[in-house]
Amino acid sequence: MKALVTGGAGFIGSNLTAELVKQGNDVFVVDDLSMGKIENLVGIDKNKLQFCEHSITDYAFMRQLLIEKKFDHIVLLAAVASVADSIERPYETHLVNQEANVNILETVRKYKLPVKKIIFSSSAAVYGNLPDLPKKETSRVDPLTPYAIDKFATERFVVNYGRLYNIPTVATRFFNVYGPKQNPQSPYSGVLSIITECLRNNQTFTLYGDGKQERDFIYVADVVKALILLLQSDAKHKVYNVATGKTNSLLEVIHEMEEIAGRNLKMTMGPERTGDIKYSQADISELGKLGFAADNNLAIGLEKYLKYEKI
Ligand code: NAD
Ligand code: UD1
Repeated sequence: MKALVTGGAGFIGSNLTAELVKQGNDVFVVDDLSMGKIENLVGIDKNKLQFCEHSITDYAFMRQLLIEKKFDHIVLLAAVASVADSIERPYETHLVNQEANVNILETVRKYKLPVKKIIFSSSAAVYGNLPDLPKKETSRVDPLTPYAIDKFATERFVVNYGRLYNIPTVATRFFNVYGPKQNPQSPYSGVLSIITECLRNNQTFTLYGDGKQERDFIYVADVVKALILLLQSDAKHKVYNVATGKTNSLLEVIHEMEEIAGRNLKMTMGPERTGDIKYSQADISELGKLGFAADNNLAIGLEKYLKYEKI
């Protein structure tokens, strides 16, 4: 198969690209390297990988690429992935997180491109802070931040463009993903990558809030497994939670990481972040019906991650 992975030099994207290539697919990556790194793609068979440093917000470029290449699979991962960053830069992030993806859908519709599957990466952030847990795909949503609003609106576009124009589309709501190749360099990076860097360099980690916020953390290899399952399945016009179904507080995760690393994390407390979600946990029975179960629980995933990071 010929696949396009937008954001393919990023954390989830580079892990997915490596696996797709390993399974014999040809992969084209578009990434502007704002958070992704070209090093993330090192080691992947060059005969099966094409990389283009470009922004998905360049409509003319994306249109031409899609028309020329006629991809079988399109995985839409490019985004400004930080909730906090979207609060700082709401319009800029909207152009990437929503508009650019609608342009891709519109190109597929207008030129009747023969796509076998489009997957859009939405987020658990769409559920907001409503009290019902665990979250089912049918649970009420309450997108509280520009990031969550764009994710929810775009997944609606994706699912309903699919229904209206007969395009096989699926949206995934990832919960909190961690593992190798997550970029820790931004203050808005995923929390486990920041903690890992602090443990490595003996730096002080700032914990925002009381540490009792809970997340459903999923190891990146399991996310890749879910994406490939969805690419290969008949699933269409649906939304799927991608998570483990288990939840842990940030303090519990920190404790587990300290145990594995055999060292203590230096920590200071800061105020809870605006727009932060307190409790997040998924019901994954929909994905389960397609045969999905995560291979890595938190202890195993963290062990693998810290081993990869040589900590
Ligand atoms: P990431 O930042 O590592 O990956 C996103 C990639 O998109 C980066 O490589 C970045 O350089 C690229 N990018 C950003 N703007 C771009 C643009 N205008 N044009 C082209 N490329 C651009 O983040 P990730 O964790 O790998 O996230 C991948 C996707 O999954 C994102 O859509 C994110 O919102 C979603 N998601 C992630 C998580 C998580 O816990 N990591 C959870 C839910 C949803
Ligand atoms: C994360 C993802 C987002 C995804 C969502 C799905 C990133 C950057 N964010 O958002 O793309 O859609 O999961 O659930 O990958 N924290 C600290 N100190 C820090 C950094 C974070 O205490 O230095 C806290 C935050 O305040 C928050 C928790 O850790 O309570 C998790 O933060 P973060 O990793 O940014 O994830 P989410 O906001 O859940």
